[in-house]
Amino acid sequence: MVTDSAMAFIRLYRDSDFEACAQICIATLPPSLAASPAAAKLSPYLWTHPYTFLSPSTCYVLDDGTGTAVGYCIGCPDVYAFVAEYSRYVTSILSRDVESPGFDVREPWTVPATTSTDENSASVVINPQALAQNAYRADWMLLESNEAVTKRWRATMHIDLLPAWQGQGWGRQLIESFVLSVQKSGQDYGEGEHIGVAGENSKVVAFYEKVGFRVVEGGEGDNNIIMVRDISKL
Ligand SMILES: CC(C)(COP(=O)(O)OP(=O)(O)OC[C@H]1O[C@@H](n2cnc3c(N)ncnc32)[C@H](O)[C@@H]1OP(=O)(O)O)[C@@H](O)C(=O)NCCC(=O)NCCS
Repeated sequence: MVTDSAMAFIRLYRDSDFEACAQICIATLPPSLAASPAAAKLSPYLWTHPYTFLSPSTCYVLDDGTGTAVGYCIGCPDVYAFVAEYSRYVTSILSRDVESPGFDVREPWTVPATTSTDENSASVVINPQALAQNAYRADWMLLESNEAVTKRWRATMHIDLLPAWQGQGWGRQLIESFVLSVQKSGQDYGEGEHIGVAGENSKVVAFYEKVGFRVVEGGEGDNNIIMVRDISKL
């Protein structure tokens, strides 16, 4: 892919970016999710579309200069307010595109490869049913595991750039755009923002440290690493 950084610019998300953002999410998944086509297809419904639908004023894309989004930094200023609003997303977007998986049993995040329909040589694979359940339950996804952190650093975000656009300074600029929008949001972001980094993607911890984050839970070898960045009041 030819990239022209001189033409590219950062702008707010717009509805016409829906599909491009889904593709960016899928193209940048960690290996365990990328290995399962069913899990990959669901991923934007957990980590991309909820933010762009419910909090578009804190969602930025990198536009390649032709109107196409090639990266994003998307999030919300307050996960508690976000979860309280989540049913709007379920009604308008999620239930349109993803069938409700049922909730009689809480599905495990991974299942043995032999019981999965995905062809994969790993011994366990991500369970698409668990992803679908979590897509419907933002409270499970965002509030359950680390309340001590989310109550203090209430904003959260996700950042992904297509490979050809990485390493050119856009990630840092996208995060600064997001942070400024949180500061201007009028919502209660507490002390700042928190993020979760999958253990298998721990190489990006160094990037986040460069742009102002620090690790507060987990580390090399852990499944989930929690990082925070303080955001001052304007
Ligand atoms: C991680 C990611 C968002 C970083 O964005 P980027 O545009 O490539 O990063 P930048 O060019 O803005 O880098 C900012 C700084 O971090 C440093 N940096 C970037 N990636 C790094 C890495 N893997 N290790 C160490 N430092 C890194 C850069 O050298 C730069 O430092 P400087 O400002 O002192 O020169 C991007 O590479 C990406 O989308 N990766 C794939 C998806 C992903 O892993 N997303 C995060 C999921 S938790």
